[in-house]
Amino acid sequence: MDKLIITGGTPLEGEIRISGAKNAALPILAATLLADGPVKVGNIPHLQDITTTMELLGRMGVELVVDERMNIEVDCSTIRELFAPYELVKSMRASILVLGPMLARFGKAVVSLPGGCAIGSRPVNLHIEGLVKMGADVHVEGGYIHAKASRLKGAHLVMDLVTVTGTENLMMAATLADGTTVIENAAREPEVVDLANCLNAMGAKVSGAGGDTISVEGVDKLCGTHYDVLPDRIESGTYLAAAAITGGRVRIKDTRPRMLEAVIEKLREAGACVEVGDRWIDLDMKGSRLRSTNIRTSPYPAFPTDMQAQFTSLNVVASGTGTISETVFENRFMHVHELQRMGADIQLAGNTAVIRGVDRLTAAPVMATDLRASASLVLAGLVAEGDTVVERIYHIDRGYESIEEKLAKLGARIRRVPA
Ligand code: EPZ
Repeated sequence: MDKLIITGGTPLEGEIRISGAKNAALPILAATLLADGPVKVGNIPHLQDITTTMELLGRMGVELVVDERMNIEVDCSTIRELFAPYELVKSMRASILVLGPMLARFGKAVVSLPGGCAIGSRPVNLHIEGLVKMGADVHVEGGYIHAKASRLKGAHLVMDLVTVTGTENLMMAATLADGTTVIENAAREPEVVDLANCLNAMGAKVSGAGGDTISVEGVDKLCGTHYDVLPDRIESGTYLAAAAITGGRVRIKDTRPRMLEAVIEKLREAGACVEVGDRWIDLDMKGSRLRSTNIRTSPYPAFPTDMQAQFTSLNVVASGTGTISETVFENRFMHVHELQRMGADIQLAGNTAVIRGVDRLTAAPVMATDLRASASLVLAGLVAEGDTVVERIYHIDRGYESIEEKLAKLGARIRRVPA
């Protein structure tokens, strides 16, 4: 397995371009199953999760044409299997997103239960309950979800919990249902809005996305379109955190500052000078040391759980004591034990980490456990004294396009060592 070797101590300087959002591209690629004609999706990031999704669609018999700029044209007129196998779903939980579209378009779907992952049990009960309320006949057997529906019916759904992919699955299913579906307590993430915009470009009638109540008026068919996914707000926040932790000065381009307001607010609270333009964000530490911040993760527009690990690393080297409360997932502190091996002073109490800033971290061999935990270890390696070796970086490759190239462009001393 590949490793990253990072020599700490260099403040990052310069500018980089932000890639398309993984968590928008995944539901939008699933949504192509709903269309009668080919759908061309642009600004797709070059990530392992995208490759997995393409493999999944390909296995189903869907035609995929990819160009050198990672635009993907999907034509599902040749589809022959309505089946998402465990071997693919276990490697990427977001495969569950084909359930709603398959059921709505073809009236049948057999999709492996995703199972848990490092950060939590990750149930999909709310996805299933919503589809049942829309008239689907669903039973779980042998680790697979077996779903059937001659035609889904519009329903009034009140989500017990805010679930991003749950909202997305049900919104997609509702586009071809008979009647109108209302989803209350819906997820408000920008990726949900991007999916809704793509669905409407295909001829759907979705309104209210971005708010907590989404309404979908079912139509008889959706057509092909061309849609570019929005920039990745978590990649954006991660590179801003990298500039902050190294005491650098960085511009990130082709992003959307409005998607990151809670993160920008916390970076300013931590002592960073942050300026924003229409599609760029500048961060400059101006030689000052980071200050500790208190973070509590919550659904959008509050502070995102996907930036929690990165801010844990910021607090590790900040002045003062900061607390980080993780309210979305039950086991999202796997990075803490690895950071402690580098000299971090962190006390875990339930879903809260109390972090006393230290003056220096020392390099160590550390192990990535999940996507965003991996990012927090890279951030720590950028400031630790010596050469930090991050192992199992396949986790990172799932969500960060060419991370070592982008960081090296900003002056980081980082290299990938093939297994
Ligand atoms: C999406 O996961 C993202 N993934 C995650 O990003 C992100 O961390 C998460 O939303 C929260 O923002 C994609 O969009 C592909 P949830 P998702 O359903 O939809 C519970 C990354 O790093 N829940 O919003 O799976 C669940 O256990 C990944 O890019 C149920 O109980 O998350 C969790 O506690 C990691 N039953 C909470 O809701 C359900 O049926 C929120 O989960 C569904 C969810």
